[in-house]
Amino acid sequence: MSSPSRTLVLLAHPDLADSRVNRVLADAVGDLEGVTVRDLSVARFRDGFDVALEQHLLLGYDTVVLQFPWYWYSVPGILKEWMDQVLTHGFAYGSGGDALHGKTLQVVTSTGGPDASYQPGGYNRFTMVELMRPLDATAHLCGMTLAEPLVVHGARTLDDATLASYAERYRSLLAGDELRATA
Ligand SMILES: Cc1cc2nc3c(=O)[nH]c(=O)nc-3n(C[C@H](O)[C@H](O)[C@H](O)COP(=O)(O)O)c2cc1C
Repeated sequence: MSSPSRTLVLLAHPDLADSRVNRVLADAVGDLEGVTVRDLSVARFRDGFDVALEQHLLLGYDTVVLQFPWYWYSVPGILKEWMDQVLTHGFAYGSGGDALHGKTLQVVTSTGGPDASYQPGGYNRFTMVELMRPLDATAHLCGMTLAEPLVVHGARTLDDATLASYAERYRSLLAGDELRATA
């Protein structure tokens, strides 16, 4: 019998006290069995992350969730710093770098812009799938399967009921392990 799936949520918000969307989303999954939420702003030291610890933690999980507010068409600086420091040659990629092979990468993000703005010819010009290509390439380089992202659009205008329904979707996604691969 195979052991139950374990999920590590890397919550990357530089100012969680000021967050509405990502706080609600994180609260929705924090008590799920097999799910660990790791607040990177707490895990981070003055000069960055304890690389050995972060790498050791990753080994114990089947799914890694990157949860973050969408900043400048990308991940916030704290998540970029985590990636730069933790996804090292020989661990995540390159010769002997197979520690993450076979794991699933799930992106969960919130945007200020509405869904319609992320279309060709729209305010933000490109789709989220196009803009997430660096994460797609990262998952591929690390031998991970990229799941279909969960994107909460229109963070500023989202009403409480819609936010609650996204939180419920997120919860059932992680609870049911319904991670759907895109590739
Ligand atoms: C520095 C910064 C950059 C941002 N860049 C974008 C962006 O490129 N596209 C977008 O749709 N929203 C952008 N936003 C809006 C955030 O995505 C939005 O405020 C966030 O998802 C709300 O989540 P929260 O309530 O958890 O903070 C940006 C916000 C900040 C503070």
